[in-house]
Parts: sequence; C-alpha cells; structure tokens
Amino acid sequence: MQFGKITQVAHYVPEKIVTNDDLSTMLETSDEWISTRTGIRRRHIAVNENTSDLCIEVAKKLLEKAEIDPSELDFVLVATMTPDFATPSTASLVQGAIGATRALAFDISAACSGFVYALTVAEKFILSGSKKGIVIGGECLSKIVDWQDRTTAVLFGDGAGGVLLEANDTQHILAENLRSDGVRGRSLTAMCIKPQLEFSSGFQNEPYLKMDGRDIFDFAVRDVPQNILETLERAKLSVEEIDTFLLHQANMRIIDKMARKVKAERSKFPTNMDKYGNTSAASIPILLSEEVEKGRVILGSNQKLVLTGFGGGLTWGTLVVTV
Ligand code: ACO
Repeated sequence: MQFGKITQVAHYVPEKIVTNDDLSTMLETSDEWISTRTGIRRRHIAVNENTSDLCIEVAKKLLEKAEIDPSELDFVLVATMTPDFATPSTASLVQGAIGATRALAFDISAACSGFVYALTVAEKFILSGSKKGIVIGGECLSKIVDWQDRTTAVLFGDGAGGVLLEANDTQHILAENLRSDGVRGRSLTAMCIKPQLEFSSGFQNEPYLKMDGRDIFDFAVRDVPQNILETLERAKLSVEEIDTFLLHQANMRIIDKMARKVKAERSKFPTNMDKYGNTSAASIPILLSEEVEKGRVILGSNQKLVLTGFGGGLTWGTLVVTV
C-alpha cells in the first residue's frame, strides 16, 4: 500500500500590494484599527490575473522544483471559493495550461478549509493507486469583496500556494478530521446568483462576500481547538510532539487564542497574515511554502506538522502530517 507524501511546496502572490493606509484613503478605517483587531498590515491584490493564473504559477514552480514532466501527474486539485468560472474548473484550467495530459482535475469548495479538504482527497487518490499529483489552494478574494464595505474589505487578499504529493511506502498523513456545519453556513456567504425564472421570488443577487465576523470568530476559537486536540489523539501524538502548527491565517487574535486553548507554545504558530491578509484556501499552503523557504520546516526531516483550516460552510478540519 502507498501513502501520500508532500515532496515539494511553492507559492505565488500577485505583485500589487495594498497597505492598510491605502485602504484608509478609500474607506472609513485606519491602520490602527485593522492591525490591532486582525494583525493584517497589507495584502496582495491581483490586477490583471485571475485565480487560475495564480495557481498556474504555483503548478509551474512545483514541476520545476521537482524536475518532473507534467505528463507524470495523475491529478490536479484546486481548492478555491473564487474560481475563474463555475465551469471549466480552475483545476482544469491549470491542468491544461501546464500540459498535465494524463491528470484528472477538479475544484474543491470548502472556503478557508479548502486546502486541508483537498489534501485529504488527494491522499485518497494515492491510496487507490495514483503516483503523484498537485494540490493547490488559490484565491482572488478581491473579486468578491465589496470594496465599499469596511467590515470585510480590509480582511482579504489574493494568492496561491500548493504542494506536490507523491506515493510513498510509509504513512505521512497521520490523522485527519474534517468537519462541516451547514446549519451555521449563513454566517459567511458569497456569490449568490438568483434564479432568473420570472416566477421565482424571495431570492436576491448577493455576489459579495458577507460575513458575521463575531460568529465566525466565536466558532473559530470554540470549535477548532477541540478539532486539533481530537486529531492529535487520533494520531496518538501529544501537543509537545508537534513541531509547527500551520493554521488558517484569518486573524492574529484567533491564532493567539487557539495556541492558548491547545496549550501549545505560541512560537510554534508562525503567521503571515500581516503580509497577505486572509487568503482563504491559499493561506495554509502559502505559509507552509514560506516556512520551508525560511528553513523552519524541512522537507524530508520527519518534522510533525498540524495543518488546520476553518471558515465558510461552516467547515473546519485538521491534518497531522510528517514531512
Ligand atoms: N475600520 C474601522 N472600524 C471598523 C471596521 C474597519 N475596517 N470594521 C468594523 N468596524 C467597526 C464596526 O462598525 C463596529 O463599530 P460599532 O461598535 O460602532 O458598531 C466596531 O468596529 C467593532 O466591530 P466588530 O465587527 O464587532 O469587530 P470585531 O472586534 O469583532 O472584529 C473581525 C471584526 C476582525 C472581522 C473579527 O470578528 C474576525 O476576525 N472574525 C473572524 C473572521 C474569520 O476568521 N474568518 C475566517 C473565515 S473567512 C472565509 O472562510 C473566507
């Protein structure tokens, strides 16, 4: 039997940087409010690129680093809540652009938990015989943010990150624990397009991302630490045995609270939302890729990582992996 192993990581963000000060010229807000409430100081915004363009850059980097031919890929999965189209999927656009002629491709929609969901699905393909594939989280949240709404516009950014997953004899995804609660789903909505039939009523076009920030904050600090602890139990590992906790980058205060709740050293929770804002499905792979670049996460070292996403759906989930 073969298991999935992360063998390469990469990320890409668009060039344009929008600072909190830039936003305060457009909206009634301030660097002080944004940075003290969230830890966010700037974000990258796509100008002439769409989600697939960011993901294609990541896919190309992964292939280049691994020195493999795109025809060797069995699958291309993209986690996104901001696809270029409903169809073709962003993953198909990536697969076509890189010439992964043998690969299956589809998108996964689980908002900020998307990357953790997609990696779990990808491992299933390896368990059933696939040899290698890429898993990308990519977003252009700037497309769906209402730039007049200060309660959401200041929070989000664009970017993409991903991994190459390859078949390996030993288990590297040690435990998984994915959850959803659609009953609370209305706390975060985006891209509602109303039915066009004349006789339908009671629907409204609501293209922009709307979020009850308080609800999501409470959900994140109440349900997610429990999920991390349960997953560690499944992996038969203690908090102390984890080298790095890579959590979805929504808000610095959420990370602080989660570290306290799982009783782990805060220094084991790297953050980068100061530079990128909340990039939804892209946040965990961008962070992982940066940590590898900085030499704090070392591929092939057997370090143990916790990857945790949480957000729209509601969805949340944790993977414990060795790298
Ligand atoms: N600038 C200045 N003032 C603001 C801004 C702003 N950008 N935004 C809101 N305010 C005001 C509000 O109007 C409110 O004013 P009032 O008291 O006069 O009514 C006040 O600031 C407080 O607003 P709250 O919304 O209560 O602020 P809070 O402390 O809850 O912080 C935040 C808001 C940052 C959104 C927080 O709730 C949060 O981080 N929530 C979690 C978000 C999250 O984790 N999302 C993850 C999933 S995302 C996904 O899946 C795509």
